[in-house]
Amino acid sequence: MNKLENIQFNRVYQMDCVQGMSSFLPKESIDLQIVDPPYNIGLKGAKVNLKKGYKAIDEDWDTIENFEEFTLNWLKECYRTLKPNGSILSYGTHHNVFLTGYLMEQLGFKIKMQYIWKKTNPPPSFLGTNPKYATESIIWATKGGSYTYNYDYAKSINGGKNISNVFETALTPQREKKHGKFPCQKPLEVTIKLLNLHSNPNDMVLVPFTGSGTECLGARLTNRNFVSFETNYKYIELANNRLDDAECFENYFEYLLNHKQVS
Ligand SMILES: C[S@@+](CC[C@H](N)C(=O)[O-])C[C@H]1O[C@@H](n2cnc3c(N)ncnc32)[C@H](O)[C@@H]1O
Repeated sequence: MNKLENIQFNRVYQMDCVQGMSSFLPKESIDLQIVDPPYNIGLKGAKVNLKKGYKAIDEDWDTIENFEEFTLNWLKECYRTLKPNGSILSYGTHHNVFLTGYLMEQLGFKIKMQYIWKKTNPPPSFLGTNPKYATESIIWATKGGSYTYNYDYAKSINGGKNISNVFETALTPQREKKHGKFPCQKPLEVTIKLLNLHSNPNDMVLVPFTGSGTECLGARLTNRNFVSFETNYKYIELANNRLDDAECFENYFEYLLNHKQVS
């Protein structure tokens, strides 16, 4: 199997991820890819009259004119770099998830399943014209017929029985945001479960879109290696601060690391 000789592990590179993957990552070198891309909500009309201080996602990096081309480009590199027995887990809402799934199948990925992250305290529907949006999807796809699904871990977090495809948690808690604010930070709990389910210690995890570094931190806490890319320097600083302080998260998430039931 190809080795990652031209890149240092366990650090975030300030670089466009497509450029980073194509420059540094050999074919079939990655065990698990956790992708939390821009959803393009900015361009798809989520700019609402913000009431009561609630903030919609309206970031420059989330407003992409040719979104199909953008999505295809990073997916192509993910396909090239994924090991034959590896998995990709890609987040989305209706803004991007159907396009992502369609393009995945065009490229040859096999969609295994869709996980749902169900938020127990979803944000309100600002205008009351639709239900509160309480879920996000995570597409799980593979390249070949073999893949990692750690059944014993799945049972260990669900009272001895296999889990369902639904992760139910609160929105990312404030105690995970003590190093700074980021508009769409994912919860460590979901991240750590995904890592434990679909990879093994010392595996190589690719995080193409770092943001505040949740997936990198999760990889460190579960003893995986990671390679990660991010275009915005201020987010790299935030991610690095979280990584430097990983010990404080180890205590916080001891129950997950020890494969105990999540209450
Ligand atoms: C949805 S956020 C990731 C959030 C992350 N899961 C977390 O919990 O913090 C997406 C990130 O991708 C970055 N980004 C956008 N386009 C990029 C590109 N072409 N290459 C690398 N990073 C990019 C944005 O700056 C943003 O920080």
